[in-house]
Amino acid sequence: MNIKIYIAIISICLLPLTKVVAQVSLQNTTCEMLENPLGIDVQKPRFAWHIISKERNVMQTAYQILVSSTAEKLNANEGDLWDSQKVNTGESIHVRYNGAPLKSRLKAFWKVKVWTSAGQSNWSTTNYFSMGLLYYKDWPKGWIGFDRAFAWDNIKTDSRLSARYFRKEFQNTKQVKSATASIIGLGLYELFINGKKVGDDVLSPSPTDYTKNVKYNTYDVTSYIKNGKNAVGAILGNGRFFAMRQNEKPYKIKTFGFPKMLMNINIVYTDGSTANIDTDNSWKGTADGPIRTNNEYDGEEYDATKEAAGWNTVGFDDSMWLKAEFVQEPSGVIEAQMNENMRVMNTLKPVSISKLSGGRYILDMGQNMVGWLQIKIKGIKGKQIKMRFAESLQDNGELFTANLRNAKCTDLYTLKGGETETWEPTFTYRGFRFVELSGYSYQPSVNDFVGKMVYDNMKTVGTFETSNGLTNQIFKNAWWGIAGSYKGIPVDCPQRNERMPWLGDRGAVAYGENFLFDNGRFYAKWLQDIRNSQKEDGAIPDVAPAFWRYYSDNMTWPGAMLLVTEMLYKQTGDVSSVRDNYPAMKKWLSYMQDRYMKDYILTKDSYGDWCMPPITIEFGRGKSADKKYPSELISTAYYYHFTNLMIQFGRAIGNEEDVKTYEVLGEKIKNAFNEKYYNQQGYYATNALTDNIIPLYFGMVPKDKVETVFKNITHTVEVTNKGHLSNGLVGIQWLMRCLNDYGRPDLAYTVATQKTYPSWGYMVENGATTIWELWNGNTADPKMNSQNHVMMLGDLLIWYYENLAGIKSENAAFKQITMKPEIIEGLSTVNASYNSIYGMIKSNYSKAGNAFAWNLSVPPNTTAMVYIPAKSKTEVSEKIKSIKDLKFIKMENNRAIYEIGSGDYQFVVNGK
Ligand code: BGC
Repeated sequence: MNIKIYIAIISICLLPLTKVVAQVSLQNTTCEMLENPLGIDVQKPRFAWHIISKERNVMQTAYQILVSSTAEKLNANEGDLWDSQKVNTGESIHVRYNGAPLKSRLKAFWKVKVWTSAGQSNWSTTNYFSMGLLYYKDWPKGWIGFDRAFAWDNIKTDSRLSARYFRKEFQNTKQVKSATASIIGLGLYELFINGKKVGDDVLSPSPTDYTKNVKYNTYDVTSYIKNGKNAVGAILGNGRFFAMRQNEKPYKIKTFGFPKMLMNINIVYTDGSTANIDTDNSWKGTADGPIRTNNEYDGEEYDATKEAAGWNTVGFDDSMWLKAEFVQEPSGVIEAQMNENMRVMNTLKPVSISKLSGGRYILDMGQNMVGWLQIKIKGIKGKQIKMRFAESLQDNGELFTANLRNAKCTDLYTLKGGETETWEPTFTYRGFRFVELSGYSYQPSVNDFVGKMVYDNMKTVGTFETSNGLTNQIFKNAWWGIAGSYKGIPVDCPQRNERMPWLGDRGAVAYGENFLFDNGRFYAKWLQDIRNSQKEDGAIPDVAPAFWRYYSDNMTWPGAMLLVTEMLYKQTGDVSSVRDNYPAMKKWLSYMQDRYMKDYILTKDSYGDWCMPPITIEFGRGKSADKKYPSELISTAYYYHFTNLMIQFGRAIGNEEDVKTYEVLGEKIKNAFNEKYYNQQGYYATNALTDNIIPLYFGMVPKDKVETVFKNITHTVEVTNKGHLSNGLVGIQWLMRCLNDYGRPDLAYTVATQKTYPSWGYMVENGATTIWELWNGNTADPKMNSQNHVMMLGDLLIWYYENLAGIKSENAAFKQITMKPEIIEGLSTVNASYNSIYGMIKSNYSKAGNAFAWNLSVPPNTTAMVYIPAKSKTEVSEKIKSIKDLKFIKMENNRAIYEIGSGDYQFVVNGK
C-alpha cells in the first residue's frame, strides 16, 4: 500500500478515537454525595459524577467503576474490591457499590469512566473513601470524662460548666504508614496531636438525640504522628449534650449528662503491624483549664492565666491533673457522621468602631452574621475584656438585647499579659451584627477584629442576580440567614435562648434552600433525627431532635418530614430517603388519622397560619407573634396534600397497595373539605388568603371552581392588600407558586418587590441584612422577634429559581429540566445558575423592547424542555448553531417550545 494512503487510512481510523476521548471528562465524583469521605458506615455506598462536555446532546450510555484496596491496584486497573465491568445504563447518580464486603477501617480507591453519545471519557481522577468502625468491638471499651461538676461550676443556673481537657502520651518507634483517628466527643470536641489541631472542623460533631444515636468523625492523622514520643489532647465542651437551661421551666429540656468521649487512633506501620491509642483511664484530665464556662446561649469565658502551655504536647507535666474516669456511656447507637461538620466558612472585617460612654465601644460587622469574633488584644495580666453581642442597636446607640430573651451572648476574656494575644471562642456561636466591647485601656481599631462566619461545610450551589436591586438584596439576605442556620441541625434562629430545630420552619423553606446550598446530606441527617424522635405510638414532635419536648400533634410542623423528603427526592433523586422515611411517615399519618380525623376532617392543629402579619405595622406594635389560631381547614388541607405525597413516594418505592389506599382516603378528605369549607361565592372559609391558596395549590378545588377561587385570591392580593401578601408561615410557602402557576407571575412580582409593609422589601428598607421572624419585626414585642429567621422566605427562593430564572426539575434530580422563565414587565435581566446533581444549569436572559436574548446551559445526561417567549417560531434563532437542528415541539401560549439536550445555547427572539 502506498505509504500516503496508509497514513491517511490510519489517521482516519484514529481521528474518531482521539476525538472521542477528548470530548467528555468527569468531575465532581462523589461517594455518598461527599468528596472523598472518611469513616463512612454505609455497606453499599452510592457513587455519582458530573459529565463535562462542550458537545451538545451528550447522554451517558454506559459506565464502569473500579474500586481497589490500594491506589497502585487502581492505577493498574485492578478493581479487586469491585469491577462493575461496563454497565449499559444512563445512571450517573446514586450508583450503588456492589462489590466485596467493606470491612471496618478499609480504605478504598475508586474511579469511573463513562461511554456517552459523544464518545468515551478517560478514567476519572482517583478518589477514595474509607470505612469507619462498624462494630462495637472495633471501639475501645471505655468512655472517659468526669461525670460530675466541679467547685467553680454552677450547673443550677445557666448550666455553667467549664470545658474538660484530656491528654495522653504514647511512644512510636516504627515507621508509620497510616494513622486514623475515630472520635466521639460529646457535646463538642477539639482534638490535637502534638499540639496541632486535627482538621478544620469546628463545633463537632453534629448534635443528635444522644439517647438514640451518637455520631463519630474520622480523620486521617498520618502526618501528625512523629517518631518517638507523641501527645494527644482533647477538649470537651457542652454543646447540646450538657444542655443549656436544664433547670429552667416551663421548657421540658432534655439533657444527657456531662461531656465525655470515646476515641481510637489506629496506627498502621509499614511492616504491617498496628497499634491502637484508645481512651481509657491511663489518660489524665482536668476541668480547671482556661475555658471556664461555655454554652450556646450565654457564650464563653476564657481565662488565659489558666492556660497550661504545652498541655497537648510531649513532656507536659500533668502530675497535678486527675486520672480520667470511665463514665456512663450514652445509650444511643454509634454511627458515622455522614453529613458535613461546621467550619469557619467566611471571614468579615468590621465596618466601623464607635465610642460609647464608660469606655465602651461598639463594633459594627455590617452584616447580621452567625459565628464569633476573633480579637487581638494587648494588656496586663488579669485584665478582662467583655464582648456582648446583639443583632441591632437601640436609638441611643446601645445594644438592643431584649430580643435575646435571657441568652447572655457574652464572651469574657482574661488576659495573660505580655505580647499581643489573639483569641476566639471554641464552643459557642451567636447571631450578631454589633458587639459591645468593654475593658479596654486603649482605643481598639477595626483591624483588631475578625468576624468568623460558621456553618456546615457545604457548597453554595446557586447564584442569582436580576436587574432589580431589591430582589438581589433579598436573595443575599436569604443566603446569609440560611447559611447561618446550618448547625448540624437547622436551627430556627441563632441568637435568643431558643436555637431549636423547629420542623415547621424548614418544611416551609428547605426546598428553596436547596437552590443555594448542597444540603442533601444535611437534610438526610435531619430526617433521621426526626425519625428517631418519633414516639412508639407514631407521634412526631414539633422540634427534632426533641431537645425541647413538644409533641403537640398537628399537621404542619411534623409534616416537614414529608416535605423535606419530597425536596430530597425532587432535587437530588434520593430514593433512599423516601425508603428510609416511608414507614415513619405512614405511621404518623395513621396516628393522626386514628386520633383526630372525624368525618374526614382533621380536627387537630396547633399553630394556624403562624405569624400572620398584623393588619398594619402600628397595630402590630408591641404585639407578640405568639398568638395562635388553630385551623382545621389548614390541618385537613395538609392531610390531603400528604396523601398525594404518599402516593408519589409509594410509586417511587413500588408500594402500589398503599398508593391505592391513599388515593381513596385523599378523595374522601377532598370531598369532606369542599363540603365543609367551600362557599358558593367562590372562596373557602372566611376568604382569608391562606385559606384559599392551600386548597387551590394542593389541587383540592373542583375544576369548575378553580377560576373563581383564583379570582378571589388575586382580588385579596391586588385590591384588599394593595399588592401585598397577608400570609403567615403556612400560606407564604405556597403563595408565589400559586400566583405564578395560575397565571399571574406579574402579581407575584409585585408582591416580591414591595417595599412597604408587609413584605420582604420592607425588611430590607428597614435595614435587615437577613430575613426577620416577623413581618412586623421592627415594631413587635421583642420577646418573640428574631431578626434572623428563615421561615418567612416561604417559597420565594423556589419562585426565584423555578419561575424567574426558569430552572425547574420536572420529576426528580433535574434529569428532565423545565426551563420556562417568566417574562415580567419591569424585569429586564435574570442571571442564575444551579449546580445540580447532574451538573451546572445556567439561565441568563435579557430583554429590551421586543428583543429577547437567552443564554442557557444544560448539563450532560439530562434534557430540557425550553419555553422561549415568542409569538411565532420564526422569531426564534439560535446563535451557536442553527435553530433547525433543534427539536421543535409546539407553540403554546406565546412560547416556542423546544426539547434540547445538553450544551450551551444562545437563543435570540426578535419580536415585532
Ligand atoms: C420558633 C419558631 C417556631 C415556633 C413554633 C418559635 O419560638 O422560633 O420558629 O416554629 O416557635 O412554636
